[in-house]
Amino acid sequence: MDESVVKGTATQSGVDDARIKDLKAFDDTKAGVKGLIDAGVASLPRIFIRPPDELVEELNLGYSQAEVPVIDLSGIETDDQRKNIVDELRQVSEEWGFFRVVNHGIPSSVLDGMIDGTCKFHEQDAELKKEYYSRDQFQKVRYESNIDLYRSRVANWRDTMTINLLYSNEVVPDELPEICRSSAMDYINHVTKLAETLFELLSEALGIKVDNLRAMECARGRTFVCHYYPACPEPDLTLGVSRHTDPAFLTILLQDHIGGLQFLHDNNWTDVPPIPGGLVVNIADLLQIVSNDKFKSREHRVIANRIGPRISVACFFIGVAVPEKIYYPAKELISDETPPVYREFTVGEYMSNFFSRPIDKSGLDHFKI
Ligand code: OGA
Ligand code: NI
Repeated sequence: MDESVVKGTATQSGVDDARIKDLKAFDDTKAGVKGLIDAGVASLPRIFIRPPDELVEELNLGYSQAEVPVIDLSGIETDDQRKNIVDELRQVSEEWGFFRVVNHGIPSSVLDGMIDGTCKFHEQDAELKKEYYSRDQFQKVRYESNIDLYRSRVANWRDTMTINLLYSNEVVPDELPEICRSSAMDYINHVTKLAETLFELLSEALGIKVDNLRAMECARGRTFVCHYYPACPEPDLTLGVSRHTDPAFLTILLQDHIGGLQFLHDNNWTDVPPIPGGLVVNIADLLQIVSNDKFKSREHRVIANRIGPRISVACFFIGVAVPEKIYYPAKELISDETPPVYREFTVGEYMSNFFSRPIDKSGLDHFKI
């Protein structure tokens, strides 16, 4: 091998050309990471291996055993209990940005059905699944491996089926893959109702008009990303999802029993273990912006695991995808002491920023004043 390659001093373009060729070959299989496992791959192809600086940094990272808060939503109909829940939500949204909810009203059978439907989608006949393989963000249902495959420094050990209800938010059953249609319909309807409730409570917690976030139609534009993380032969060398914050107001995440999600709390990676029947909720970038940094959108990632597959379904509540719509920090939260941290921007600018950067680059910096 050329000495400059060994020393890592090869010209950038030479290294990039080889990588792009590998990425393209992987993408062209339309079989994702699961396709590699099915083909018996026992060590990681180089596109998945984290760069040396990241692997070194990993050794110096802090970990915490802190327990992610759990919010019990039962009794929300009574005034007293509702007030307690709003107070708890305010505290966890300011200090943690991540929490788990229980007694949220979605039956376990609906949650299990969505996990099962996602698994079935990814494990169906590879030729049938290929028909959905696409990187067209406007397609209602698509499947791909790594949304930022050609923009990121390293590929993640994960495949994703996306149901995009952003541009036309009506759910038309016939447009969903048959293999998971009824379970996805059920879950989508239930989780959207839960999000509407959470947006009301979060408005109250923020101290902006009770119906403000709901009136902004935060729960209308939705994207469901249904992930499949195959068992990984060398989990220390790669990640299931690189560190990132979510491009939305709020994310509700359904995960199976395997675990692997971590978020940065006080600069320490902190596990978000699954609770049977529970859901994970995290504040995402747009809510941090509208709340003028009061609520925190925390970086998170998923580590790779020797066992698998792990299934998770993240629902991003993104708001109305009208390109001209303008977002800005809520006027009620701006004062001489708390000047706006972000400028006004359009949904169009927000979307094009998301689709032009790797997921591990901040989605907030671009809009800071
Ligand atoms: C995401 C995400 C976490 C998970 O899709 O943005 O952070 O556990 N997923 O799959
Ligand atoms: Ni995320």
